[in-house]
Amino acid sequence: MAQGNAALKARSRLLLTKKDDGRLAVVKAYSPALSMTGNIGNGRNVFQKNCSTCHQIGGKSGTAYGPDLGTIRNRRPESIMGDILNPNLSIADGFDIWSIEMHAGEAVQGLIATESPTALTIKNYGGQETVIARSNIKSLKALGMSVMPAGLENQISQQEMADLLLYLKQGKDETAAH
Ligand code: HEC
Repeated sequence: MAQGNAALKARSRLLLTKKDDGRLAVVKAYSPALSMTGNIGNGRNVFQKNCSTCHQIGGKSGTAYGPDLGTIRNRRPESIMGDILNPNLSIADGFDIWSIEMHAGEAVQGLIATESPTALTIKNYGGQETVIARSNIKSLKALGMSVMPAGLENQISQQEMADLLLYLKQGKDETAAH
């Protein structure tokens, strides 16, 4: 019961975040970061601290929960920064959060990792997987929001953003190259 309430709270908080136009103001406030000189080594530290819990780069150094970031190096830095500071603006294919209600009353949220005609495998934050038989599912809906937290600017200064963008543009784990 208490768990259900917590999940509901987290959900309404995220829905509020989604509507928050303040995100655009944050992205705008960070535009100076785009012309700052970055440092790859520092960028790597920023990545390890704030991103590697959910992302890998080219299959290395991190947890594969969100999409692998090895392919984003061809994107413009302002577009990458937009994804970092405003995660709900666009959600990468296959990374929607689903809310699944069971006939037994329980509800589960997570990414759908794999599907078969008889079951779904849900991946929770941290990478833990749960198999749910379709026959136990009462309803299934996409919440239209990202698991990626909004508000990362509280942990990442503009200089650190410049460092991080340079590191991401490199598109590989630096330690593997040296
Ligand atoms: C709690 C897990 C989590 C953390 C922490 C996190 N992300 Fe994400 N990220 C995701 C998920 C899940 C997605 C896919 C959904 C989406 O597009 O919003 C995503 C999407 C992205 C995308 C868009 C990728 C694409 O293919 O469109 C970028 C870029 C990104 N993250 C960068 C970062 C960076 C840089 C950090 C650290 C500053 C970070 N993320 C921290 C979970 C996370």
